Amino acid sequence: MFQSGLLAGKRVLITGGGTGLGKSIGRRYVELGARLVICGRRAEVLQRTAAEMEEAFGTPVETHVCDVRDAVAVETMMSRIWEGGPLDVLVNNAAGNFLARTEHLSSRAIDAVVDIVLKGGAHCTIAAGRRWIAQQRRGTVLCILTQSALTGAPFTVPSAMAKAGLLSMIRSLAVEWGPKGIRLVGVAPGPFPTEGAWSRLMPKERHREPIENGIALRRVGRHEELADLCTFLISDNAEFITGEAITIDGGKWLQGAAGPSAQVMQEWSDDTWKSLRK
Ligand code: HXC
Ligand code: NAP
Repeated sequence: MFQSGLLAGKRVLITGGGTGLGKSIGRRYVELGARLVICGRRAEVLQRTAAEMEEAFGTPVETHVCDVRDAVAVETMMSRIWEGGPLDVLVNNAAGNFLARTEHLSSRAIDAVVDIVLKGGAHCTIAAGRRWIAQQRRGTVLCILTQSALTGAPFTVPSAMAKAGLLSMIRSLAVEWGPKGIRLVGVAPGPFPTEGAWSRLMPKERHREPIENGIALRRVGRHEELADLCTFLISDNAEFITGEAITIDGGKWLQGAAGPSAQVMQEWSDDTWKSLRK
């Protein structure tokens, strides 16, 4: 299904699309014919990414400096975007996260994450949705969640809470806006190496053994794999999917749910199995 032209004619905004996974998703979208708009707080990062994509695919990429925590700034950005034509897809990807003991978090520290992820996601969704409804247009919202939205995550509690809130928004608005032709979907990734996530969440002290050992498929995710899932979900092939989030974590959460002994048993030798059977 991933043929060139799959996303032709679709205008897509990816928040936080200048770096990491948002950049990889945007790259795939442009490759498949989408018209891409990216936003973030750092102009130079956005411009560099836009220039890279223009060079690779010959397609211009529109950039907007916008802090998604600021509802007025989001409204201004959406008005500017709509001046060039309506969006078809919004990808809520911008996020903030760090490791901390929850009892040590200040209220500003909680805000720093929740305001970007949950409130920023809501501001962007409502600003786009309001316009789609006024123009009687179809639209799709894709939220980049995390596996911890479903399972919780100690030491990144504001992020887990905020992403779980976005999942609730997906399910709620899928019903409220469904009759208007607006779909809301999500992906819940496990670990995919990026500078932003690894620098904040994966200090070497965190793991006694490689993180791959805690993942059923024994490896981290590849950006292309997430980008292809995100492509499918916004494509016309997925038009009957709404209110759903798809986990893409190599079986990480199930490995965790099965308990540490599952991993120990996976490493038992044939002799151990034979002696147990006896
Ligand atoms: C405790 C911290 C802290 C830390 C910041 N704060 N870092 N508290 N531990 N490590 C507190 C500060 O002391 C301050 O509170 C408040 O948070 C705001 O800090 P600022 O530095 O002013 O925040 P700001 O400049 O708004 O930056 C937001 C940020 C930053 C979230 C802290 O890291 C950021 O900009 N991140 C964006 C990119 C990012 O995080 N990418 C990773 C996404 S990965 P006080 O009270 O002192 O004023 C991801 C993966 C999900 O989401 C799951 C993966 C498994
Ligand atoms: P990243 O590169 O740090 O991406 C975060 C992006 O959000 C940056 O481009 C950042 O740009 C932007 N951003 C942050 N605050 C913003 C704000 N207030 N307004 C606008 N933009 C803002 O990290 P990543 O790993 O690619 O994460 C991308 C998404 O994947 C996030 O939703 C994350 O939660 C999710 N995720 C990642 C992993 C993983 O393993 N990498 C796992 C699960 C989920 P500026 O700083 O320039 O604003």
